[in-house]
Amino acid sequence: MKIGMIGSGTVGRGLGAWFAKTGFPVLFTSRNPTHATEAAQTAGYGAKSVTTTALVQESDILLLTLPFGEIGAALEPAREHLPGKTVVDATNPITPDHRALAIGHTLSGAEEIARQFPAADIVKAFNAVFAEVYAAQKAQIDGRSVTIFFAGDHPRAKTSVREIITKLGFDAVDAGPLANSRYLEPLSLLNIHLGRAQGFGTQIGFSLLRTPRVFPSKRSRAASPQEMATNDFRNTPEANACAPPCPRSNGSQEESALHRPRTDPSSGAQTH
Ligand SMILES: NC(=O)c1ccc[n+]([C@@H]2O[C@H](COP(=O)([O-])OP(=O)(O)OC[C@H]3O[C@@H](n4cnc5c(N)ncnc54)[C@H](OP(=O)(O)O)[C@@H]3O)[C@@H](O)[C@H]2O)c1
Repeated sequence: MKIGMIGSGTVGRGLGAWFAKTGFPVLFTSRNPTHATEAAQTAGYGAKSVTTTALVQESDILLLTLPFGEIGAALEPAREHLPGKTVVDATNPITPDHRALAIGHTLSGAEEIARQFPAADIVKAFNAVFAEVYAAQKAQIDGRSVTIFFAGDHPRAKTSVREIITKLGFDAVDAGPLANSRYLEPLSLLNIHLGRAQGFGTQIGFSLLRTPRVFPSKRSRAASPQEMATNDFRNTPEANACAPPCPRSNGSQEESALHRPRTDPSSGAQTH
């Protein structure tokens, strides 16, 4: 699986060198070709620098590691080669002071890229981990794997992205459809704030702690496609699950811990 880094700055160099060391063929491109050449030389392991169009043509997976506002300019000349390509969006549409998102809540940068380049299979990933972690090539911090969340609408592309995340040693967590980039992009701001303002430094990362579980099961499953499409998870078994043992009403439906009727001790009547 050949990986092409579009952007040879701090994120592109760090991740690209790590992929190369892990055994993936890697290509670099940049606005200034000298920077891509330097990135390839530093990475070693046969990494090369090429033009953006050649990189898009030759790579199986493209990583967007350039400023969000430059994506259109970078991809437009290679548009005809994008159909069916897995494009990993590691960017964040943040304001110049790194304090806010220029796009958010009802849209995300990743969805905007998908709108501009509908033939590509966009997957959001790698956006909420500091470049310094990639440069250090350490997927674990204090003995625990850092989680990289990924989101997208194309199962085949997501499988490839899960593979490259896992190969680096990160904990790959499927965060659902591309629209959930609306949750993942703000995570980058929290990361920046914790690292740079709260003094935790840049060797930090989020980790999703969870109980191992097997999907699908009666009580525990991912949301259905319809629930995904409507973003309405109020009635999934997960949403209504309570810690066992769960009380039952009518012998069938489990009641939510939040909506379980309580008995008024003075009257014996049920309250809500
Ligand atoms: N820094 C982090 O810790 C971090 C972590 C996660 C995600 N991100 C996101 O990752 C992206 C890159 O961040 P960075 O810190 O690596 O930035 P950076 O160090 O400034 O590097 C940006 C790279 O993009 C290249 N570039 C700019 N315009 C281009 C174009 N039109 N075509 C091709 N290449 C172009 C630049 O090329 P030249 O050098 O030749 O000008 C440079 O190599 C940003 O969207 C950022 O939000 C950053």
